[in-house]
Amino acid sequence: MDLKHVFEQVDGILTRYPQKEAALLPTLHLIQQLEGYLSQESIAAVSTHLNVPLVRIEQVISFYSLFRRKPVGRYLVQLCTNISCSLLGADRLLDRLEALLGIKVGQTTPDGLFTLETVECLGSCGTAPVVQINDVYYENLDEDRLQAIITSLREKMKP
Ligand code: FES
Repeated sequence: MDLKHVFEQVDGILTRYPQKEAALLPTLHLIQQLEGYLSQESIAAVSTHLNVPLVRIEQVISFYSLFRRKPVGRYLVQLCTNISCSLLGADRLLDRLEALLGIKVGQTTPDGLFTLETVECLGSCGTAPVVQINDVYYENLDEDRLQAIITSLREKMKP
């Protein structure tokens, strides 16, 4: 799927709304799903297609923390550091992740495989501590299991 197909979907959404700007959030979501982040080029295309000023789109993107302006790695590793996960060792898991990946929170490994983020509650407090990697939740984690998960993801990507 490319931006053209995103805009075809958006045009379908637009038939339900009198104002084009109403489709801004779903459009940005679709593009981020497609490209992993919102590039300047994509934002400019959205601005033209929806006739919404660039500055308005930038405001919306900066308001919603789920939108990304930088590319992320093949695997987006999001460790919950909220209360339940913290009480059950999220800090130790974070130290281990930084050591395993050789990066700090907010960074991407030089090979482009992993991006590391901390996030607020993932809604799985009963199985804390939890990390989400792309669309998959890994629950009741400990350091050894975390290491095994990262190792297995690295193995998968070997040629
Ligand atoms: S506090 Fe981590 S999932 Fe809720």
